[in-house]
Amino acid sequence: MIGMKKGLFITFEGPDGSGKTTVSKAVTEQLQKEGYAVQYSREPGGSSIAEQIRSIILDVNNTDMDARTEALLYAASRRQHLVDKVLPALEQGITVICDRFVDSSLAYQGCGRQLGMEDVMDINRFAIEGHMPDKTIFLDVDAQVGLDRIHANRTSLDRLDQESIDFHERVYNGYKAVIEKYADRMIIIDANKKPEEVIASAYAAVKGLLDA
Ligand code: TMP
Repeated sequence: MIGMKKGLFITFEGPDGSGKTTVSKAVTEQLQKEGYAVQYSREPGGSSIAEQIRSIILDVNNTDMDARTEALLYAASRRQHLVDKVLPALEQGITVICDRFVDSSLAYQGCGRQLGMEDVMDINRFAIEGHMPDKTIFLDVDAQVGLDRIHANRTSLDRLDQESIDFHERVYNGYKAVIEKYADRMIIIDANKKPEEVIASAYAAVKGLLDA
């Protein structure tokens, strides 16, 4: 359709245990109930190829995985999910709420794995071809609070959850650098609060973007 308005591309980011998935799903459902054209997605997001790539990354048996291999696989999975799920929705005017995107790689691979944010951005530039999020909701939670939540809520931990507190602190510092670098894109929400409060703040922020 000529002149059809593209959907907004909104990402949710935050350290493990920030409640990102619960919050982004709740916000999506609430907006859908109100009649907004919104779709929730997360990498690999049911894209069969992206799914297969992701299962290699998270396999607890792959303890020997090289950090650059991991970064490339995340970028590859991101690319496929973008092409299969995100871009078609945006083209149809649907807003996409995506649970983690490029900023996760900058924080986890760039800083957590110490590959450097610039090098990680370079491979992601190739993968996303300019499709940066319009806005990013960052759920800010202290690293230790986040880890405590994970240990309280989960019965099994994936390969990345099992990383040391040092790793998670580097990730948190990585996110701080991302927030500074992309300040115009970021909406920061205090996620140390109760889930209902975090959901309410995130909902208000996203609704504000859609109504603007
Ligand atoms: P999740 O917590 O959203 O389920 O994500 C699973 C793990 O994958 C989490 O520890 C963060 C990690 N991750 C990266 O390290 N780099 C990335 O680019 C993405 C998307 C996730």
